[in-house]
Amino acid sequence: MAAHYIHGFSDAERRRLIAQAQMLAAPVFGGLDFSGDHSLLEVGCAVGAELHLIAQRAPHLALTGVDLSALHLRAGQAWLAGHAQIRLLQADARALPFPDDSFDVGMTIWLLEHLADPAAVVRELLRVVKPGGRVILTEVDNHSFGFDPPQPAISAWWDAFNACQAEVGGGDPYIGRRLRSIATCLGAEVLAEEPRLVISSADATRHRTEQLHYLRALLASGAERMLAAGYATAAMQQAMAAAFDAVQAAPGVAFRYGAVRLICRKPRP
Ligand SMILES: C[S@@+](CC[C@H](N)C(=O)[O-])C[C@H]1O[C@@H](n2cnc3c(N)ncnc32)[C@H](O)[C@@H]1O
Repeated sequence: MAAHYIHGFSDAERRRLIAQAQMLAAPVFGGLDFSGDHSLLEVGCAVGAELHLIAQRAPHLALTGVDLSALHLRAGQAWLAGHAQIRLLQADARALPFPDDSFDVGMTIWLLEHLADPAAVVRELLRVVKPGGRVILTEVDNHSFGFDPPQPAISAWWDAFNACQAEVGGGDPYIGRRLRSIATCLGAEVLAEEPRLVISSADATRHRTEQLHYLRALLASGAERMLAAGYATAAMQQAMAAAFDAVQAAPGVAFRYGAVRLICRKPRP
């Protein structure tokens, strides 16, 4: 995975993940109620940035995070030292090292978009969640990203980013709209399928500058893989950066980016 994973495993990426979790906490966790749960598993947890936020919201939960990357996990262990409520393990989300019916809640956040076989992960989550427990999938729909008026240099970079993620990494950057069919094919009972607007210039609760900074960092996180694999050029990167500068200076330009949150339940026998 390491050579193909679009975001890479740098220190900058770990800082981006922690900032991202904080920036997107309201759309990712808003409306979720964990008061009746005791245990939660997040697969693809990276440094544990989301688990850290869940721990603040639900201190009664025993939290487990799983990731393939030893680098991310090592940084996460250091960062989360002292949080006895959270344990991090190295494992493949497609073959989880837990018995059946182990957790009340299983989650993915920005994971399935990177995998060629996302159903394998959902199948494992449904196995390790208790009967009646929930599986909550929050994943991107990269078709939802856009500016008004259009910003061609940013769109060109975004198209290249998505092509690189799909063709080199083997993932699906538009997976949000497939979550329901994946889960129902595996026998899950869908409780809710919710569009989540994660970035919006119309959102007065968050600063425009911070939201643009987030989008810019997201697009930049693919640069190393995109340039190495021939999906982008330095000129495209400069044009994209200049377009973000121009948008920053033009408060009339609107932007948005959305995701889908699917909440489903493992049927009782
Ligand atoms: C974009 S990050 C999301 C991290 C975290 N969910 C968050 O929101 O901060 C995706 C993570 O999935 C991990 N990953 C990719 N394939 C995996 C697999 N098969 N099993 C476990 N983790 C995997 C990567 O190492 C990376 O840390």
